[in-house]
Amino acid sequence: MSTVPAYSITTDAIAAEKERADRSNEDIDVAKILTIDTLDLPALKPTEVRMKILAVSAEHNIDHAVTADTVNIADARGGKIYPGNSATGEILEIGDQVKKFTVGDIVITHCNGGADEYGYPLRIYGYDAEESTGWYAKEAVLDQWQLIKAPLDCGLNLWEIAALPLRAPTAYHLWRRALGIYRLKVSSEHKARLNVMSFGGGVGELFLMLAKAEGHNAYFCAGSAERRASLEAHGIVGIDQKAFNRFATRDDVRAFTKHCKGLTGGEQFHVVCDMLRGPCFGAGLAVSARQGVNVSAGWQLSQVVDYNSTLMSVKQVTIDHTHYETVDGCAAATELYGSVFKPTIHKEIYGWDDLPRAHAEMHHNTQTGIPIVRIADEMPAAVKDLVPAGS
Ligand SMILES: NC(=O)c1ccc[n+]([C@@H]2O[C@H](COP(=O)([O-])OP(=O)(O)OC[C@H]3O[C@@H](n4cnc5c(N)ncnc54)[C@H](OP(=O)(O)O)[C@@H]3O)[C@@H](O)[C@H]2O)c1
Repeated sequence: MSTVPAYSITTDAIAAEKERADRSNEDIDVAKILTIDTLDLPALKPTEVRMKILAVSAEHNIDHAVTADTVNIADARGGKIYPGNSATGEILEIGDQVKKFTVGDIVITHCNGGADEYGYPLRIYGYDAEESTGWYAKEAVLDQWQLIKAPLDCGLNLWEIAALPLRAPTAYHLWRRALGIYRLKVSSEHKARLNVMSFGGGVGELFLMLAKAEGHNAYFCAGSAERRASLEAHGIVGIDQKAFNRFATRDDVRAFTKHCKGLTGGEQFHVVCDMLRGPCFGAGLAVSARQGVNVSAGWQLSQVVDYNSTLMSVKQVTIDHTHYETVDGCAAATELYGSVFKPTIHKEIYGWDDLPRAHAEMHHNTQTGIPIVRIADEMPAAVKDLVPAGS
């Protein structure tokens, strides 16, 4: 057994900081809750590997974990979790039955933490999967089924690769589900090119890259001007969400509806991806085309939604909920790194000690792309050419 530095979140830290912040989610200092700890790594079982973590992306569910705004996951897991759902690493040691990998391989994780009978995750590894420890750590022990070889020759740099292990499979699953549902209702014989819209965020932008790559019209409705500009470079049309006051009133939604009608020649959107819910949900339904599909795997602004069932029936709109990909689906999504998925990276690459600040900045929504944290000081030769100069 060895002990490595790792970040943890405890129920006590959440309670103390909530008390200090007077229960205001906005005022919570994430860096007081997500703190450096140590983690005991178990001895390797025959099918397991020991991995050095090279880089991770900051994932939004850590924000949910520190604010305990959806479920108090640290409490549910007995008072402490070691978070981190997405990592790129180098294999340092393998168990004697490991066949898929060898020492020195560069790999990415998926976070499917145990599947139902159809392959879909019942739990997320490093989050709600029992006894799982996440990858905001210097090293980790994992089973070989949890790893996929990193596509080092896909054209992306190391930070771009590190942005994708959680968000790309989520987007991939949302897209194949949304398209499948739409095609059940309207065949390509009747409608080949769809209007596809997503609200802001890393998953949303990857979803639109899939739609764009398949020839559809794609629209990104976000507050961040930098992020919209970055997607416009891929031919994805930006809609400034703040021009509609983030849908604070009915008049804002009406103005948004009119704007979208103008953008789409009156047709509106055949597919909408909404990872945020809250005010985005109603706005997304308002701009749905007939036979439209509204998909989500997130609930960042609200867990509960309501809608006019009669209106949705008359328009034949389907509201679908997904969670995360199957293990096979995660591997399929990885095939599209670089050719389809070209993620927008936040301008600062954070260091190990900056990880809490990366999450504090995510909490305050000041980042301009997917946040990446460099965990390893020394990079292996296999990825040295993939590390942009100065980062
Ligand atoms: N089920 C799953 O497997 C899964 C996987 C990934 C994510 N998720 C969940 O999905 C949600 C989004 O994830 P993500 O990875 O796309 O997050 P992300 O990359 O951190 O993006 C979140 C986006 O939310 C937007 N935003 C922030 N405050 C807002 C507000 N008040 N109103 C409207 N938009 C606001 C921001 O865009 P603008 O300011 O530019 O509009 C930001 O880019 C999170 O809740 C996350 O936990 C679930």
